[in-house]
Amino acid sequence: MNTFTTPINIPVKGIRGPMLTFRNDPFLSGQAEDCYDYCSDGLIVVGGDGKIVARGDYASLRSEFPDLTDIDVYGQDSLILPGFIDAHVHYVQSPMIASYGDTLVSWLGNYAFPTEIKFSDKAFADDVARMFFRQILSHGTTTANVFSTTFATSVDAFFEESERYGTRMISGKVLQDRNLPELLRDKDAESSVEISEALLRKWHGRGRQMYAVIPRFAPTSTPDQLRLAGELYQRYISDGVYMHTHLDEAADEIRWALSLYPESSSYTDIYDRFGLVGRRSVFAHCCILRPEEWRTLHRNGCGVVTCPSSNLFLGDGEFKYWEAKNPEHPCRTGVGTDVGGGTSFSVVRQLGEMYKVAMLEGHAPDAIRSFYLATRGGAEALHLENTVGALDPGCEADIAVLDLESTEFMSWRMRFAETLAERLFILQTLAPDNMCRATYSGGMKVYDRDKHDRFAYRV
Ligand code: GUN
Ligand code: ZN
Repeated sequence: MNTFTTPINIPVKGIRGPMLTFRNDPFLSGQAEDCYDYCSDGLIVVGGDGKIVARGDYASLRSEFPDLTDIDVYGQDSLILPGFIDAHVHYVQSPMIASYGDTLVSWLGNYAFPTEIKFSDKAFADDVARMFFRQILSHGTTTANVFSTTFATSVDAFFEESERYGTRMISGKVLQDRNLPELLRDKDAESSVEISEALLRKWHGRGRQMYAVIPRFAPTSTPDQLRLAGELYQRYISDGVYMHTHLDEAADEIRWALSLYPESSSYTDIYDRFGLVGRRSVFAHCCILRPEEWRTLHRNGCGVVTCPSSNLFLGDGEFKYWEAKNPEHPCRTGVGTDVGGGTSFSVVRQLGEMYKVAMLEGHAPDAIRSFYLATRGGAEALHLENTVGALDPGCEADIAVLDLESTEFMSWRMRFAETLAERLFILQTLAPDNMCRATYSGGMKVYDRDKHDRFAYRV
């Protein structure tokens, strides 16, 4: 049989329906309405290379692509969005999400560390990776910035599953050589960073996979390990390698970090001294920052990630988006589920939690801004805004299709919503589990809620 390869620039697929995508940061622009494009009957045309060729009103664009026959059509009860970006999540904590109570530090010791030890077993890691992808894809997430754990097996299992779906993902080995159980601890700083570099060379830039240097957080790394991690990151930063860690999550964690690094003036300064703060550095949580820390993160073009359901669940601090988006030092900001501290794989559900956390401080983020954070904002936090997070020509065709009427009650409630912002706010607040109708990775449907076999590998 002949193999037929579609030339990359030939339009092969259309997706039609109501669609929403963001152009600019609505936190920094006076009018949020100027920052997005909404079309009640739009058409996305995808090329053979999995990228968007064109987007526009169906009525005007259709005639430009007369040969396009494969068009998925979604009705007015749907909303087509860029696939969501989960900018901070631990896939290895999927088996222990919803473990009862505790402060951050004792929760790590009681639940997170014992679970992560199991990932030295490749078969265990494969099984968790499989379930993790099924969860995130069924919630419309197409890119995630992901913690694995100490073992190379945990990294391989993750990227192997990502390759099967053809998703754009970021992960790497977690570096952690003190203050955790021996079975999870790196043997020494040198060998841990060598293993990380070998994984980086294996995975970074292979298809859509990208690598991050990941010291877990300052308290679980010796100064030697942070130094070597910083050197590794600096060697590969121009190749697009990331640095990903936790920062300023909870008061007792901050005290602990500063007691281990007494020469540092702040938690951010700990990382900065070791060359870990730079373009493509991504910091999860950022609840309790001093003004100079925000300035450092802004100056370096870092990404910050709010993880509201996790902060509520662990009783940590509160992310203050009005500080992160202070016009004097605005930071690239995304949203993370932080599973298993977080309580859902749904990025949209995080938006509802973010609203409640901010309301405790008298701020009410509107739904337009929230959905920006979940899509383009996340892409900006990861310096991927020209690649994913928008429905623009040239971007990879990673797409989520939400069902506005996925339950009897949602359908009824939506009848009372008049504006797009109202509909989005209902979605983020009620966020039913089955509201994602379909998810596309590189233009191919990898999740279809209404099919018997809901998941489809691309390769
Ligand atoms: N800080 C260091 N490790 C972790 C983790 O696994 N989860 C959370 N929420 N915070 C951390
Ligand atoms: Zn985390």
